[in-house]
Amino acid sequence: MKIVQAEEQVDFARNKRLLNRYRFVEYEMLRILAGWLPATARMELKLAIGRLLWEDAQHVQHLYQRLREVQTPAFRDPNDPALSRLMAEAINAPSELDLLAGLCRVIKPALVKAYRWHIGETFANPDAPTLYAFKHILLDEEEHCRWANEALAAHPVGEWERYIADLLAAAGGITGNAPRAEAPEAPSCRTEFTAPTEAKRDERFTILDPHASKTQAEYDIAMKRLDEFENYSQEMLAAETVALVMYLSPMMPWEFTYNSARHCYDETRHCMLGIEWLTRHGYDYTKVPQNTHIYKWRSQYDAATQYCLLTMGNEKHAFPGRRKSLTAYKSAGDHLSAQFISYDMADERQHVAYGLRWLGQLIKAHGHQMSTDQFVEETTQRWEQEYRTGALPIHPKP
Ligand SMILES: [Fe+2]
Ligand SMILES: [Fe+2]
Repeated sequence: MKIVQAEEQVDFARNKRLLNRYRFVEYEMLRILAGWLPATARMELKLAIGRLLWEDAQHVQHLYQRLREVQTPAFRDPNDPALSRLMAEAINAPSELDLLAGLCRVIKPALVKAYRWHIGETFANPDAPTLYAFKHILLDEEEHCRWANEALAAHPVGEWERYIADLLAAAGGITGNAPRAEAPEAPSCRTEFTAPTEAKRDERFTILDPHASKTQAEYDIAMKRLDEFENYSQEMLAAETVALVMYLSPMMPWEFTYNSARHCYDETRHCMLGIEWLTRHGYDYTKVPQNTHIYKWRSQYDAATQYCLLTMGNEKHAFPGRRKSLTAYKSAGDHLSAQFISYDMADERQHVAYGLRWLGQLIKAHGHQMSTDQFVEETTQRWEQEYRTGALPIHPKP
């Protein structure tokens, strides 16, 4: 019997091990980005983080779909303490620029290298579904690296970025194939990450005084329209809450995180939609005061309550107003505003559906004993009393 030696370096067992490592790294990056979204001040970076985390969620989804064909359960720990330490440490950056430098100038380029190498070493036809996943993931990851090179051009390589590179080297790189360097000590700039209870904004913005009452005077449709799109430009607040809920809910099934990554990304797009509308109409979006108190108010509650306040409070109740606006813009011949609202409503319908899909599990995951119906009813009442009235009280901690 003729035995032909295979030249391919990645066999079935090694393939699984490697796919586990990539899935782990992509997933942890997504969680880190979610944690940092509210803690990042620069608006342009916040908007980019929304997209990056959604695209990383797509990568996890690609890898998950392949992994569940080759192993059960599909999600497994990579079983490499050095790799786990890298991803546990990457969140403890001293600043948003350092954070992004660690993720996008160290980890992502290493992932790109690993995917490219893997493409050449697996059994091409038998493992074609893996190649398909890599081909599509690479499109994004290469673009993320290009984005970071530009966005962080003025940020020199510092000790944090070197630390992340050293941690990666101690794990033998993304694949674990490289000879392992000695594990580094943490630099003094390391800042232990905690879930943010306040939403940061950069120095161009003013923060809205939540206690200054809005005039209830009748205003015309032009004022109403401006008000509506100014509100869109503040939807980063919704993205920040979804990001925090994701970060605080690692015990939830992957599909919840996947849906929430999309939810979060959508809200950053709605924020961008407001910015784009204001810019196209000659307004400076940084002149719109940011009502970051809303985030602070929501974040005093556990993640299930926050998620319920958002999906069953704000999002579920937004439709009558939006439909009215849509009719008004259409009859005024304002195609642009009508288009923006139409796309927003399509997204928002999904967000309410996410709420209905996940609240039952999320409530249990965060330790509530009551039925979903009762929880939703009580939380919606709270929303009516505390949000709709504009009171947004911060309660003393029990
Ligand atoms: Fe939205
Ligand atoms: Fe939404």
